[in-house]
Amino acid sequence: MVTRCVCFGKKFTELIKIAEKHNINKLEDLQKHVRFGENCKRCHPYVKMMLKTGQTKFEPFPNEPEPGSID
Ligand code: FES
Repeated sequence: MVTRCVCFGKKFTELIKIAEKHNINKLEDLQKHVRFGENCKRCHPYVKMMLKTGQTKFEPFPNEPEPGSID
């Protein structure tokens, strides 16, 4: 399962808390509050989906490379 930004060690469960606290629905806005997603950027489609759906665990998307290792 994809559960975090692997490059920055940020779990989606942490990221969503910050998003909720600041009422954020865009990845770029979330990056102003917490450092993630600046390296391989493979977590981006998952973070975008998280902001849309509130989900924090994802089956790897078929057309996206999986970020780093698996939990
Ligand atoms: S997994 Fe988020 S930048 Fe690489």
